Amino acid sequence: LRAGLKTGIVGRELTCLDSTTSTQDVARELADKGSPDGTVVMALSQQAGRGRLGRSWFSPEGTLAASIVLKPPLRLLRLLPAISSLAVLRALKTFRIQAAIKWPNDVMIRGKKVCGILIENAFTAGKYDFSVVGIGINVNFDTGRYPEIAEIATSLSTELKREVLVSRVALHLFTELDKLYTRIHNSESIFREWARQMETLGHTIAVKSGEETIYGMAERLTPEGNLLLRLADGSTREVVAGDVTVLKESTNK
Ligand code: BTN
Repeated sequence: LRAGLKTGIVGRELTCLDSTTSTQDVARELADKGSPDGTVVMALSQQAGRGRLGRSWFSPEGTLAASIVLKPPLRLLRLLPAISSLAVLRALKTFRIQAAIKWPNDVMIRGKKVCGILIENAFTAGKYDFSVVGIGINVNFDTGRYPEIAEIATSLSTELKREVLVSRVALHLFTELDKLYTRIHNSESIFREWARQMETLGHTIAVKSGEETIYGMAERLTPEGNLLLRLADGSTREVVAGDVTVLKESTNK
């Protein structure tokens, strides 16, 4: 991986661990100690991988678990979900896998989740410091063997019916993320591509946000990356975070 990586920023410092609790914590510690923009921490398995909305993230051997320290200008922080999920999509495309994004940044293959992304931001005395972008991809394990995720998840080896090297997936992922990160200022075109690849838009969905479930038509993304829903009474509602379930397929995307 090190030998193949020709990126400018992402992976210029790279730590690969056999196993750890969560790569998010290791990356954060490194960043706190001054590691530069683009620092990557990977692990071949995690004992306490964590996901969005306080959930845990299953990371057995065969997983790709990577945390990347990024320090964009504060006004471009809103683009991190877009560039990270697009980087995964492009990396999977090199394996001839057509994936789609479920808002905000889950990566899905034929309706099943293959990758989750967790973005944690660090502030010091109220001032934005850095972000840790955690990317978990199910690479080489049979998701069907684990009842908790069997119905909702898939892996690259399940889809391709062969194993692929985690380091090859990582190489493509970091290369694509580096390209997108270095043109993050071009926010309009990144947003357009993100929306185009987002299967959620144009569908009638349910979003579980905290204790509340909101039903509506996923109309568009706001410039901040929030989801704008059109409710049954014709009003709109902006959703900042939540879990999406598609209720009805639609053709007017
Ligand atoms: C989600 O879909 O809920 C996000 C999952 C994010 C998992 C990745 S794996 C690498 C990094 N380390 C963690 O503990 N979590 C993220």
